[in-house]
Amino acid sequence: MKNIAIFASGTGSNFIAIYNAIQNGYLNCNLELLISDKPKSKAIEKAKTLGINHFSFSPKQYSNKEAYETEIVELLQSHHIDLIVLAGYMRLIGSTILSNYEGKIINIHPSLLPLYKGKDAVGQALLDKATKTGVTVHYVDSGMDTGSIIKQVECPIQPNEQRETLEPKIHAIEHKIYSQV
Ligand code: GAR
Repeated sequence: MKNIAIFASGTGSNFIAIYNAIQNGYLNCNLELLISDKPKSKAIEKAKTLGINHFSFSPKQYSNKEAYETEIVELLQSHHIDLIVLAGYMRLIGSTILSNYEGKIINIHPSLLPLYKGKDAVGQALLDKATKTGVTVHYVDSGMDTGSIIKQVECPIQPNEQRETLEPKIHAIEHKIYSQV
């Protein structure tokens, strides 16, 4: 069975959706490790509660990205990780991880890439008065949200739609399609 590591910086709802998909037998893999760059994140709290191996780090406590990514690569190797799943990991993956896991890192992003890259893609779509947005799952390369696209699903934006109504729709799509991918 393949081992996956999920990287998350925030709430971890996509992490939990994948956890649930494994628990209910939809997804056949082992959620071996949860990694976060935010030691106090909800994602880490949830990993602790569920008894999932976890590692958190504060980037500021390392001299540079190479230093913390070297530690992460050692950890990933010791856990025999086959696939890295970025789920709200709000940091660019650097060359240290990329060179060791080329073609084995995927990301989910709340827009129809190449539109609205980077932070707050939902807010960017609303500000742009777009009539639709969506979710993209893609391979990770050295750019920001630029790797080749695996799957995209559209989400219409209603006139006068607010963040409070759009975000849950985006999340519902994410929670479904990430496990499918
Ligand atoms: C998700 O909407 C994900 O697409 C987004 O962060 C959120 C994390 O939610 N990722 C990005 O914007 C990456 N550029 P979660 O912590 O509840 O899974």
